[in-house]
Amino acid sequence: MHQFSETELTEAVVRSFEDAPDPRVKFLLQELVKSLHDYVRKTSLSFEEWEYAIDFLTRTGQKCTPIRQEFILLSDVLGVSMLVDAVNHRERGGATETTVLGPFYVGEHKEMPHGADISPDSQSGQKLFVQARVTDVAGKPLAGVPVDVWHADDGGLYDSQKPNYATTGPSARARFVTDLDGRIFFRSVVPCSYPVPIDGPTGELIRQTGRHPMRPAHIHFVVAAPGYEPLVTHLFIGGDKYLDSDVVFGVKDELIAKVEKRSDAVMPDGKPAPSEWNLMTYEFHLKPGKGTPPTPLGIKLGEYA
Ligand SMILES: [Fe+2]
Repeated sequence: MHQFSETELTEAVVRSFEDAPDPRVKFLLQELVKSLHDYVRKTSLSFEEWEYAIDFLTRTGQKCTPIRQEFILLSDVLGVSMLVDAVNHRERGGATETTVLGPFYVGEHKEMPHGADISPDSQSGQKLFVQARVTDVAGKPLAGVPVDVWHADDGGLYDSQKPNYATTGPSARARFVTDLDGRIFFRSVVPCSYPVPIDGPTGELIRQTGRHPMRPAHIHFVVAAPGYEPLVTHLFIGGDKYLDSDVVFGVKDELIAKVEKRSDAVMPDGKPAPSEWNLMTYEFHLKPGKGTPPTPLGIKLGEYA
């Protein structure tokens, strides 16, 4: 047949994948075609709109660099990332809730000793002591587990967003390995809520639709123990005004951590404290399983302009 009606065209494209050797690839492509064609039919998409979409996606790709992932950002802002997360974590069975990886997992997570200050250059941030423990769902501590941590600073920027990242290296980004009791602890500053980058196509979408670009303050964690499902999550700072309207839809109640204002003279590791500081305490529970932790963009300092 050389001429198709609107629905016959869909059937023809779906059939064209019938002999794909990988059944999963066949399924994914056939369903993608059905959804895309449905969208075009439902919206009666105009040529101008189709061209805009092509241009938008082209510019999204062009905005990507080794340390900037505009497609992940777009996926986040459209809620696709959280939906992928949801369908892959339907049964938690007591394990800690997951949330989006986000576009700033760029690697450079150097192992640091417990208690290290991961934001030593911050002059203005409120001091924060984070103590966390990693256990299985029954509460058994998991030792020797790498925990990757990264967060925006008190000005709302990740290290990789700063022009001097290539020369100064990571900050507010590190790896800690759990001790025999499953614990890690470190110093930093309280992150603040921040806008996702709005100088690219995703920002254009946010602005033109009257949404705000803010994420509530949070610290990212990836906890990956052999024999357990890798945990990709955040801890949100309780009380943040954007908890109910996160631009990437990533908040879950269980992940809102209490941050206590403290004035004790010593921090939990017995070292002297500043006059005012904050304490965040949390316990991560891992579920038996497998899977590979997310791959950072994996760029080594100096490899990019
Ligand atoms: Fe983030």
